[in-house]
Amino acid sequence: MSMDIGSLFEPRAIAVVGASTNPAKIGYRIVENIVRSGYAGNVFPVNPKGGEIFGLSAYTALSEIKQEIDVAVLAIPAGLVLDTVDACGEAGVKNIVVITSGFSEVGNLETEREIVRKARGYGMRVLGPNIFGIYSAAASLDATFGPGGITPGPVAIITQSGALGIAMIGKTAAESVGLSALVSVGNKADIDEADLLEYLAADEKTRAILMYIEGVKAGDRLQRTLAEVTRHKPVVVIKSGRSKRGSMAAASHTGSLAGADEVFDAVMRQCGVLRAESVQEAFTWARYLASSPASTGDQAVIVTNGGGIGVMATDACEKHAVALYDNQEVLANTFSGVMPDFGSSKNPVDLTGQATAEDYERSLDAVLEQEDMDAAIALYCETALFDTSQFADILRKVYKRYRERKPIVFSLFGGEKIEAVIQDLRREGVPVFGDVYEAVSALGALYGVHRRMLEPAEPPEEIDLPIENIRKVLDGARADGRTFLLAPEASQVAGYLGLEMPKSILARSMEEAVQAAEEIGYPVVMKIVSKDIVHKSDSGGVALDLLNEEEVVDAYQAILRSCREHVPDAVIDGIEVVEMVHSGVETIVGARQDPSFGPVVMFGLGGIYVEVMKDVSFRAAPIGRATANAMIADLRSYALLLGVRGESRKDIDAIADVVVRLSHLIDRCREIADIEVNPLIAYDYGQGTRTVDMRILIKQTKEVS
Ligand code: ACO
Repeated sequence: MSMDIGSLFEPRAIAVVGASTNPAKIGYRIVENIVRSGYAGNVFPVNPKGGEIFGLSAYTALSEIKQEIDVAVLAIPAGLVLDTVDACGEAGVKNIVVITSGFSEVGNLETEREIVRKARGYGMRVLGPNIFGIYSAAASLDATFGPGGITPGPVAIITQSGALGIAMIGKTAAESVGLSALVSVGNKADIDEADLLEYLAADEKTRAILMYIEGVKAGDRLQRTLAEVTRHKPVVVIKSGRSKRGSMAAASHTGSLAGADEVFDAVMRQCGVLRAESVQEAFTWARYLASSPASTGDQAVIVTNGGGIGVMATDACEKHAVALYDNQEVLANTFSGVMPDFGSSKNPVDLTGQATAEDYERSLDAVLEQEDMDAAIALYCETALFDTSQFADILRKVYKRYRERKPIVFSLFGGEKIEAVIQDLRREGVPVFGDVYEAVSALGALYGVHRRMLEPAEPPEEIDLPIENIRKVLDGARADGRTFLLAPEASQVAGYLGLEMPKSILARSMEEAVQAAEEIGYPVVMKIVSKDIVHKSDSGGVALDLLNEEEVVDAYQAILRSCREHVPDAVIDGIEVVEMVHSGVETIVGARQDPSFGPVVMFGLGGIYVEVMKDVSFRAAPIGRATANAMIADLRSYALLLGVRGESRKDIDAIADVVVRLSHLIDRCREIADIEVNPLIAYDYGQGTRTVDMRILIKQTKEVS
């Protein structure tokens, strides 16, 4: 669904249905804000009683307005909304903005769906319901019931939280953040973040986008849209709810590790979105990103008058991936004659506590004029040596001189006078911060954005998978009333996927077991095969490292005895005799249908790394080889695959191949709920991997992908 929503942001005429003469009502406030914000189009208040609202005559019905209406804002009780949607449709309205609460957020999904169904029937788009409205600088239009007084500027905000969104209006004013748009999405019955992002990406006034998200709907489209938008514009997201959800938590490792927040975090990074920890951080980043020039490189220079604060900034640079310029010879040449003799030209450049305002100016000029020094981090601890207002003037001057050319951040630390300077400069748009970490994090965010923009998009990878054959296996299990695949079925799928499984033969008697073991070669593993026994080890259905005929015979009897004791009614198909896989690094590859983002893929190291450390990484599927490699490199324990302490490098390419294949399978076979290769043993470079076990859970009902 991507009907143009341009007319929502740039309407020529707007109606407010439920406009009230009572200033205490939402319908009054919206009309007041529209008029006060300087909207130049036509405004039509609608109220059955007529009357005059904020200087405008009310129409008694939409049908009375004999002109085109681009947007109708509905501020009427929930019970009246459906009929009003019809009235809007008949009046030729293009977009409806439903302020009213009382729909899916309180369990009334039916009516909400009906609103959208009806609206679409008339070719209308729906924003909301359950929202505080929309502000659009493009039309100088504040159609919200917020406090008013929004300053136009380069940041667009999309918010799912109404209360927080309204509070942001005041906050943006206090923080001197100008807005190009502020959109409340509420229940997202029709228009969602992806629709809005598409518009805002093309909107010239918008230079950075800030999103507050509580829950994701249609996450695969959101993900694709974000991945595209961040190639041109920075997107910062704040997401609440870091707690676990994971609807199929117990079903597999992938399920239990794929908490909603872990997946959200991973997908946002994959899409090049910056995730802020707090509203404050999001504001800091968005404001800086919207006003800074593109970075030409990532070599920054710290200029300070205090050693301690310089070290703090160095730590912050490491944390926020800001590289520090390191050519000592050039640094020494650049600062000779600029700074006092007893200062230090090493980066951080220490002008010492004796530095004057002029020393700062000369040093910052020296940094910013030097071609391969890409950004300046200017730090100042208050001293009695110079006048703060003179210092503020110098910062203004330096910023003005370079603001189109190179990124700069200032961090000032001191008493009341310094605080006042910070406030003044901030109001003027100078990137000045009270805290060193905040300043460096803003620069780090800028570098992150530009790394993303320079990163080549990975071309889609064509993977040849025999999907029809795989579906036949899945259909067979479903016909049998199962939501999981038996070991031989899973092995069959693994074969279709091109995964290397250990050799395996199904034995239905002790003689067959011995014969199979001889054929495969010792040592072997034996496993029970029964649809009634899911937890094979717990039921004593697995025996490892069997070295000869005698051990195979003993194991055969022991497995049957134990399984019959644990699950007396189990129908046993036989015992699988499997090649014993020699040891390597145990890894785990999983994929599943995430409730928010659809198909996702996971990789981790096995054993304690996954159980205790939860050292895993996720991506939205499908992925190509470069993404799979990045995903493997994301692990904290990556060094173990690269080879440590004399160990050789493992076959990372072969692991990546399995990750890519699983990601394509989960994307193309949406009836697979969860698939896990555990363990996938990785051998030395060039020697590939071995899939020891693969589990597949399927959905009960078949979905067409
Ligand atoms: N067409 C036009 N106007 C109508 C119609 C109609 N068919 N029927 C009634 N009206 C008028 C009413 O007469 C009234 O005007 P009046 O004051 O002149 O009598 C006006 O519409 C509003 O109707 P009320 O019954 O007075 O409803 P009220 O204003 O109390 O509430 C509202 C309407 C605000 C939409 C309410 O139902 C609601 O949903 N409130 C919550 C809104 C909300 O919080 N949204 C989420 C925002 S985000 C956040 O959480 C902050």
